[in-house]
Amino acid sequence: MVSSYDEIAEWYDNWVGTYSMSDDPYFRAIEALIGDVAGQRICDLACGQGRVARHLAAQGASVVGVDLSAKLLEIARRHEANEPLGIEYIHADVQQLDDATFGPFDGVVSSMALMDIPDLADTVRGVAHLLRPEGWFAFSILHPCFHTSQSGEIETPTGAACTISRYFAEGYWRSDTRTGPPGKVGAYHRTLSTYVNALSDAGLQLVRLSEPGVANDIPQSPGLSQSGRPVWEEVPAILVAFCRKRAL
Ligand SMILES: C[S@@+](CC[C@H](N)C(=O)[O-])C[C@H]1O[C@@H](n2cnc3c(N)ncnc32)[C@H](O)[C@@H]1O
Repeated sequence: MVSSYDEIAEWYDNWVGTYSMSDDPYFRAIEALIGDVAGQRICDLACGQGRVARHLAAQGASVVGVDLSAKLLEIARRHEANEPLGIEYIHADVQQLDDATFGPFDGVVSSMALMDIPDLADTVRGVAHLLRPEGWFAFSILHPCFHTSQSGEIETPTGAACTISRYFAEGYWRSDTRTGPPGKVGAYHRTLSTYVNALSDAGLQLVRLSEPGVANDIPQSPGLSQSGRPVWEEVPAILVAFCRKRAL
């Protein structure tokens, strides 16, 4: 199993930095929806180098991290060896979790990863398979309404404005200008309705959304503030969703 993130694993680890997840306003938006995690069994889906897994485990959750990138998992396991938190890391493609036996979980969290995964429907079906009945799924993604393959800026008589086009063009795109993952490994764009309908088809009921704006108070702002210009503060940067698995 090969992941495009293997080639940029060291870069990604440096890029996300070493600051605490409590200082990351994008993750705070997820935390505001999931609440206290102590005592819960949680899967960190597409966990990367494990920054979210470590944060949740430090708060008393029992965490399993799953990712396709062997290199990022190597970094995650290095952290675990240096400072054991009881996190288990599994090398797997999250598009193929239908028969996974490492569930059930009280919750599945996925930070800034679903837009990196080609098959959304298979992935969220796997999430539902991993969850206990009424378990929760919380995720953050690049906001699909404002981060398309062709979003940019124009000058207008009243100042700069964001331009968004190719919203309906779902599929893989790669940016020539972004400094974050969309410029390094690309991403998969989908409309908002594709996300909501995939969740519903998988038996995951959408409970709450939040739409944080660009956070300029963290060292990196995951490639979200496309040019670092204030115009991008006027639209949401990411979309955060909280869902519950429908009881059978
Ligand atoms: C932007 S990173 C986010 C990592 C981590 N959640 C974080 O917040 O730092 C996206 C992650 O998705 C993972 N990924 C992409 N496709 C995947 C797949 N099919 N199965 C599992 N992980 C995948 C990548 O390896 C990478 O770790």
